[in-house]
Amino acid sequence: MTKILIANWKMNPQTEKAAIVLAKACDAEGVILCPPFPFLKAVKQAIKKATLGAQDLCFENGGPFTGEVSALQLKSVGVEYVIIGHSERRAHLGETDELVARKVAAALEAGITPVVCVGETRDERDKGQTREVIDRQTRMAFSLIPAGGGQARGGNKQETFNVILTYEPVWAISTNKGAEGATPESAQDMINYMQGIVRGLPVVPAFIYGGSVNPENLESFLQCSEVHGGLVGGASLKPAEFKKMIIINSK
Ligand code: PGA
Repeated sequence: MTKILIANWKMNPQTEKAAIVLAKACDAEGVILCPPFPFLKAVKQAIKKATLGAQDLCFENGGPFTGEVSALQLKSVGVEYVIIGHSERRAHLGETDELVARKVAAALEAGITPVVCVGETRDERDKGQTREVIDRQTRMAFSLIPAGGGQARGGNKQETFNVILTYEPVWAISTNKGAEGATPESAQDMINYMQGIVRGLPVVPAFIYGGSVNPENLESFLQCSEVHGGLVGGASLKPAEFKKMIIINSK
């Protein structure tokens, strides 16, 4: 079964031309490509099988928010998924749990599936706070969804919303040592815990793992029944590696 492979390009590559080359090389079923904002349209035009995602959005729908990008603007260029609450935004750009909740609500209202990232830092893990952090971040992220569903922009009443929840321990990101501690078993264990947290909410969640996912460890994560895919950073910028991951995912 093909699971979800989300390519988080972060602030790469540096030219539209390079983005198009990368997109064409990584174009496959089950893949969600998340390029930087300026390349969304070009990537959309370059892909035939993959789906388009963005790396962030504004919590408001329009107005005086210099530099921000709204859910409706993303939707108008073909974005179907948006990463929200990535640890790099939480750490470097002051993204709070409250902001994450507003962004999730904005995405859902526009009919874009949020890819919500939660995960503990090394320090929090060492202090035994992992579950507490995951619990808080997950609960808060969905705290502004109206109980019983809501009105999707564009008309129809939705009872439940599709969401992707990513367990991405901060200490496992960009280490190239995904197996150092974030083993498939520990990812599955945390995902089981997260399943309990969202139970009862009007969401239909898929759970994925992120943090140094690469061609060597992908298969072991995908073999876990509750892990529906991976969020891939560094390896998604290397076509040879990402293509190997596409093949592993299609087996
Ligand atoms: P990584 O990044 O695969 O390079 O660890 C993942 C992420 O930060 O989303």
